[in-house]
Amino acid sequence: MKFFADTAEIDDIKDLAATGLLDGVTTNPSLIMKSGRDFIEVTREICGLVDGPVSAEVVALDHAGMMAEAEKLRKIADNVCIKVPLTIDGLKTCKALSGDGTMVNVTLCFSANQALLAAKAGATFVSPFVGRHDDNGFDGMQLISDIRLIYDNYNFGTEILVASVRHSVHVLEAAKIGADVMTAPPAVIRGLFKHILTDKGIEGFLADWAKTGQTI
Ligand code: E4P
Repeated sequence: MKFFADTAEIDDIKDLAATGLLDGVTTNPSLIMKSGRDFIEVTREICGLVDGPVSAEVVALDHAGMMAEAEKLRKIADNVCIKVPLTIDGLKTCKALSGDGTMVNVTLCFSANQALLAAKAGATFVSPFVGRHDDNGFDGMQLISDIRLIYDNYNFGTEILVASVRHSVHVLEAAKIGADVMTAPPAVIRGLFKHILTDKGIEGFLADWAKTGQTI
């Protein structure tokens, strides 16, 4: 499963990229607002830090407006992935851009039927929001499971990008289902490295090593 960082914070992206385990980045208008940075500038900087796809979201609601924004965004770098909402105009835009060889991430997906439409529109990625789904009394992971089944039934090439990830159990469940990608806030990704028994184990080994009086 590929790991994307769901952030526009440069320091976090640099830090995670240095692990060699970061496969891409996703941003959205709220994350750009939080960063306080200029959208185009920060997207260009992020694209230079990771080789994989960097999702940049359009804000127009109509097809012509989305195409005009996508035109500006895709000029930023070769690894820009245009993010469009799961609406009729969003999917028209997806079809046009993907037919043109541009990566497209269809976002704000909340049903398996929507994911089916995104795949038919040629999306590179579909982003089902598991956290927001759970928040509203639905089962986010059941949604991922249903999309996996449908995509496998028809051999769709669209990658399932599990979004709105809130904790490590979301990551674990997504991997068990066979999702292609997950995007999570940096704190959730860092949390995946941690285990109390790893820390305790290191502590015990170092204490015993000190008693040997040896060095490596
Ligand atoms: C990523 O592409 C999404 O925009 C993001 O994961 C949404 O997460 P949130 O529900 O925590 O805002």
